[in-house]
Amino acid sequence: MKVMVVGGGGREHAIIKKLRESKQITEIFALPGNGGIAADAKCVSIGAKDIEKICDFAKAEGIDYAVVAPDDPLVLGCVDALNEIGIPCFGPEKKAAIIEGSKVFSKNLMKKYGIPTAEYEVFTDLASALSYLDTAPVPTVIKADGLALGKGVIIAMTRDEAKEAVRSMMEDKIFGESGSQVVIEEFLTGPEVSVLSFTDGKTVVPMISSMDHKRALDNDEGLNTGGMGTVAPNPYYTDEVAKECMEKIFLPTVEAMNSEGRTFKGCLYFGLMLTPKGPKVIEYNCRFGDPETQVVLPLLDSDLFEIMQSVTNGTLAETEVRFKNEHACCVIMASEGYPQKYDSGFEITVADEIKDKVYVAGAKKDGDKLLSAGGRVLGATETADTLEKAIDGAYALVEKIHFENAYFRHDIGKKAKEAK
Ligand code: AMP
Ligand code: GLY
Repeated sequence: MKVMVVGGGGREHAIIKKLRESKQITEIFALPGNGGIAADAKCVSIGAKDIEKICDFAKAEGIDYAVVAPDDPLVLGCVDALNEIGIPCFGPEKKAAIIEGSKVFSKNLMKKYGIPTAEYEVFTDLASALSYLDTAPVPTVIKADGLALGKGVIIAMTRDEAKEAVRSMMEDKIFGESGSQVVIEEFLTGPEVSVLSFTDGKTVVPMISSMDHKRALDNDEGLNTGGMGTVAPNPYYTDEVAKECMEKIFLPTVEAMNSEGRTFKGCLYFGLMLTPKGPKVIEYNCRFGDPETQVVLPLLDSDLFEIMQSVTNGTLAETEVRFKNEHACCVIMASEGYPQKYDSGFEITVADEIKDKVYVAGAKKDGDKLLSAGGRVLGATETADTLEKAIDGAYALVEKIHFENAYFRHDIGKKAKEAK
């Protein structure tokens, strides 16, 4: 079978490497992929948001199955467009992808169906948002309604900061139309857990849990990023918590989407906070997380392609989804300065013997050379029978990767180790 993966980051590289293990697949294309992914798939320079060109390519190439990985094409309706021309896909339709595409939608969904989340108010005009903030408790959390490259959430410690955040979204439109509505919500505390799940709209199968490290600098300092590293499983996510999440969050969410006529099929990502009052949803994503995927899929012991097809066909309940009883750690190597200004174009060298464990996010080819071409450049993942060994192993991989302005956190997994 010929499979096409839409997207071009570390997450897509991890999906592609796992799909390569499936005997059913003869050829994998990545749209657009990147210079590192090119070692594992045929890269085609079509942007992930260019739905028309994606469909034309799929038709011309005779693609049998498509995996749409990033949020943008999902929210724009890439799966609907591919289905229309008869190509089965892994990923939700547009009407279900709204669970990530609109925070107002997801918050209202949770309220309507009693799914635990932070208390909130929605504002469509600046004046009422500002007057609400005159008396709102702080810290408070301001969220732009739409997609904002993972930057649409501002935690404001004071009312002035909160007002500034609301102005920047609603008046200065720093996130464009994504900020025309804002959610102002209660500040929650507790350990965060990412749970990616497979769902065909009937059955939900959670994958192994993970912990992201979103801040740029050690000890969770610095700016929020797309994620600087991950470990799996997440030690805070005990069997007891998992059971509670299944009953109060996972199944109710899938059922709520069905009741709304928005059946979700694909990877539904639950961003959870384990608060003193129980697990609550911080955010939903309509896709695999990045860099969660780089620790979750290396631990998957079953055939990813079979699982994906069963999600599409509605037969997930009969399909084996088994994870190894091991640990994984992924350390992201970024360009110094990320998530703000950074230089790129530096040659990346990766020792041959570790290439299987490296997931490339931002790199381009220049002849035989691989050059950095993004904020997050790559991630190195090690798996082992203990968390400590996985962490030490991931940092040992980092030692074998070089580029001039490489920056990485030194404490990925530290919090998880301390939790045990
Ligand atoms: P998001 O982009 O939605 O993943 O949010 C980014 C980060 O902001 C999350 O990983 C949390 O650490 C934090 N966050 C979001 N919502 C809240 C909240 N209600 N209370 C505390 N922290 C939050
Ligand atoms: N790592 C968080 C995300 O993928 O949204």
